Amino acid sequence: MQHRVVLTVNLGTLAGNYRAVCGVAAPCAVMPVLKANAYGLGVGPIARALVAAGAPRIAVAEPFEALQLAGLGVPVQILSGILPDEIGPMVEAGVTLPVVSLEAARAISAEARRQGREALCHLALDTGMGRAGILWQEAPALLPELLALPNLRLEGLFTHFPLAYESGSAFTREQLRRFGAVLGAAEALGHRFRWIHAANSDAINNAPEACAAPFNLVRCGLNLHGAFDAAGSLRVPLRPVLTMTTRLAQIRDLPADTPIGYGHTYRTRRPMRVGTVCAGYADGLPLALSNRGAVLIRGVPAPILGRLSMDYLTVNLDDLPEARVGDVVTLLGRDGGHEIPVQDWAALKGTHAYDIICSIGSRVAREYRD
Ligand SMILES: Cc1ncc(COP(=O)(O)O)c(C=O)c1O
Repeated sequence: MQHRVVLTVNLGTLAGNYRAVCGVAAPCAVMPVLKANAYGLGVGPIARALVAAGAPRIAVAEPFEALQLAGLGVPVQILSGILPDEIGPMVEAGVTLPVVSLEAARAISAEARRQGREALCHLALDTGMGRAGILWQEAPALLPELLALPNLRLEGLFTHFPLAYESGSAFTREQLRRFGAVLGAAEALGHRFRWIHAANSDAINNAPEACAAPFNLVRCGLNLHGAFDAAGSLRVPLRPVLTMTTRLAQIRDLPADTPIGYGHTYRTRRPMRVGTVCAGYADGLPLALSNRGAVLIRGVPAPILGRLSMDYLTVNLDDLPEARVGDVVTLLGRDGGHEIPVQDWAALKGTHAYDIICSIGSRVAREYRD
């Protein structure tokens, strides 16, 4: 038996997007950010496709995500934080760790020494994100001790941008200046970082300075999936990777003045053909599609009527006399000459594409096509 709602991830297109990001970010290498199960899309197949496409290393958010990727043959690094009790297993697994404070660095060093290993680390610098890491003003004074800690090799220096979607952002420029000051302090101590990185998808598209020397690496998540932050502009020639489909469950001819769905937010103005579609907010469809979004059936847009419920939504089939029960319904992606991109849902919900992708429901089957 088939799942009703299916999210198809086109791995060939994903690899194409990876290469497109590499083209724009060059000379920087591109590190895929595959945290949260690759934004909910399924980390295993996506990571394998990206490593095959040439990804030199992968970033995640937390230990279980790092362990899942241990067998891929490329370094895996945790980005913005590590808890004291996570240090031991992560050092043992050879995961590259963030250094977010002097205390954390001392603990990593001590644990690595106890295990007789060397821990590879990237210094997480807070230049204005205000979320985690060592404050850029405090970093120069800490560097001598950080660089001298035994069994800990600071092979990377990185920071993160909160406003990089703003093209020409003065704040992003200021962050780059702060970053440069710390990098200069480390170099004055004779230290060279193997990896220097700051840009995420927003910065790759809107802050080209973060894809040039001294940087030699960018971190990319969202763009790989063909989605982008509509708040900024887009430099990478991306192609959509995701298609979400379901099936048409019922077709009914309703008389005029029939109310539809919870809250009776829609009422037929005349006799209408109405379709019942197997998908609702439990599958990750934003409630904001109610009375505003559309689906595609046989390549034709069918507007959503009334409020979405948990498992079903209703659509206007006036333009689809040929529709039949069991028809494939495209919720996201292309059908014929029409396309519904992730960004459309984000705009209707008043949110960003990350929220839409990460909210796709757990009962939706993930399938992978090459
Ligand atoms: C520190 C860090 N770097 C990079 C990324 C990847 O961002 P994006 O998906 O915008 O490319 C994230 C994701 O939130 C992040 O937290």
